[in-house]
Amino acid sequence: MEGKKLNHIGIVMDGNGRWAKSKGLPRIMGHREGVKAVERTLIAAKELGIPCVSLYAFSTENWKRPKTEVLGLMGLLKYYLRIKVEELNKENARIRFAGSLSGLSVDIQEILKDAEEKTKNNDALQLIVCLNYGGRQEILDAVNKMVEKGIPVPVTEEIFRQHLYLPDVPDPDLLIRTSGELRMSNFWLWQGSYSEYYFTDKYWPDFGKPDLEMAIADYYRRERRYGKA
Ligand code: FPP
Repeated sequence: MEGKKLNHIGIVMDGNGRWAKSKGLPRIMGHREGVKAVERTLIAAKELGIPCVSLYAFSTENWKRPKTEVLGLMGLLKYYLRIKVEELNKENARIRFAGSLSGLSVDIQEILKDAEEKTKNNDALQLIVCLNYGGRQEILDAVNKMVEKGIPVPVTEEIFRQHLYLPDVPDPDLLIRTSGELRMSNFWLWQGSYSEYYFTDKYWPDFGKPDLEMAIADYYRRERRYGKA
């Protein structure tokens, strides 16, 4: 059916802090457990034939968190990207990043470049990690790029899209958010215009293949009309 194929699933991985609190653990333990959920989800996505998964790992607003938590999260990301890039490479997975990357520390920027470079020819699964990402910032960055280049008016959707962080990535068909919050919090603002939303009460560290399967089954039960009758 038109528009049905699932090319891209985006996930807002929420609830790490509450998961940790419910177990009397420090918040960072929730994020650590969250990394395990990332691994489970990527394996499941590959098995289920989903070509692209994007993960909202750090938003432009997350800098407002306590310094120790921000440092902990950045440490986890560094660990994950350094250690796991080889595994992703063996799995023929391509890793890319979306966000205001110049706002990240130089050592992290190097790790990101290295991971992108090492995996750029892989095509079994595309993983997009959104880091220092904000949908409004992405739109502003695109506008500023166009102004700097002197792009003439009228700007069309196609021209605008070419100035987003990853213009070749298909719009997400399905956006998932865990932990019972019913909003998208600045994730894929432009690209998510026609996405189907799926919410689950589960905290991200408890998310796994059965949950992904449920979200996908729910998606296939819906009819996407893109404004048509
Ligand atoms: C939201 O939970 C989660 C985050 C802000 C960070 C997500 C990061 C990871 C799962 C780790 C690294 C990711 C990769 C791709 C390796 P929260 O802290 O807002 O939870 P709360 O709402 O319960 O407090």
